[in-house]
Amino acid sequence: MSRRDFTRLFLAGGSAALMAHPAWAQIAPRASALPAGGPAAGEAFWKGVRAQFVMPPDLAVMNAANLCPASLPVVEALVRETKSVDQDPSQQNRARLSGAREDTRKRLAAFLRVTPEEILITRNTSESNNLVSNGLDLKAGDDVLLFADNHPSNHQAWTEKARRFGFTVNFVEQKNPHPGPEYYVEAFGRAMTPRTKLISFTHLTSSVGDLFPAKELCRMARERNVLSMVDGAQSFGLLDVNLTDMAPDFYSGSAHKWPCGARECGVLYVNARAHDRIWPSSYSAYPGAVGLSRKMEAFGQRDEATMIAFAEALAFQDAVGRTDIEKRSRALAQQLIAGLRRIEGFTVWTSPAPERAAAVVSFQPGNLDSRRLLAALYEKDKIGVTSRGGTDRPGLRVSPHFYNTPEEIDRLLAALTRYRQRGV
Ligand SMILES: Cc1ncc(COP(=O)(O)O)c(C=O)c1O
Repeated sequence: MSRRDFTRLFLAGGSAALMAHPAWAQIAPRASALPAGGPAAGEAFWKGVRAQFVMPPDLAVMNAANLCPASLPVVEALVRETKSVDQDPSQQNRARLSGAREDTRKRLAAFLRVTPEEILITRNTSESNNLVSNGLDLKAGDDVLLFADNHPSNHQAWTEKARRFGFTVNFVEQKNPHPGPEYYVEAFGRAMTPRTKLISFTHLTSSVGDLFPAKELCRMARERNVLSMVDGAQSFGLLDVNLTDMAPDFYSGSAHKWPCGARECGVLYVNARAHDRIWPSSYSAYPGAVGLSRKMEAFGQRDEATMIAFAEALAFQDAVGRTDIEKRSRALAQQLIAGLRRIEGFTVWTSPAPERAAAVVSFQPGNLDSRRLLAALYEKDKIGVTSRGGTDRPGLRVSPHFYNTPEEIDRLLAALTRYRQRGV
């Protein structure tokens, strides 16, 4: 089917309630080239969504936890705005683009259900996480409490800064299989002391896809006058995140993962109540125009085209439907877990329970060599996933998103079954 078949326009209906909020009212829903009928139309709709990606239909990349393809509207915005700067690098055109950067901030605020004054546009989750660990006043006698399976940008970043500034880092250990949300609420509660100044965990881990009870952990921290920082690299753009409801002090994310935005753009949310607790890491020209961005987002010259493309990615997700995106990715992961459990000798590290996992699935493929399997899947079967080495729950990781299909999951399961029977 050609793209023309999908040019009937429809407006995002699901975001009507959100748009009624005064702070978000200025974010108009956008028309989008998607098939009529919405997600209720089933696979026909999702085929139309897939047609909005330039990834060819016979290539099944299911590695959203690492990098998602950008949708056509995003690629087109990136090219259009990059061309615009190079065709007209005048101050006047740059001023127009700075306005567009503020529109991106508003759209990000609407997407995360917070205010533009609390949003910083960064390079990625790594930078967002480090803006927090660099920016807080922590000293000898203070403790930071981390989940042990955090990404290096939220793990090593703290241990290195502890060496420099003299504070202490403690850890809540990871358990496999996921023992349930209550376990981690209790474990963090037990490990916090009067010295604890901040807790930080990963909303959805990139290792085996453990989902954390973010709202409960943030509430517990708040009640003890402790700051909370949520690494949202794997939940932003996958789960229908509502930061007003979750109420962390800090939340970070990247455009190029689940939001399917352009590369090298990200977000840091800083709750208004924490604005006077954090120092800028960078002092330069061209800060943002509102709220905390005036103090913390002076990063010098930026690439506005990337930021505009980021807004386009969020608009695309709004048009498809946030809850439907989450539902579809979760359903694909459930299909995968069920199939993997039927393959003799395979160990699935990820829980099938919806309150313990979402759409990041890791497993050990019996005694097959993961690296060779990874290569064979790509070269012979045109399936892209990733491998995990080491001794900590090694194997393959598959992270399907809304542009993937049930047929692609079946294709992966059939290929794995074949390699299990005949070797790689
Ligand atoms: C949980 C988590 N945090 C942070 C990051 C870093 O993201 P980025 O490379 O976009 O900065 C990743 C990347 O995979 C991640 O999975």
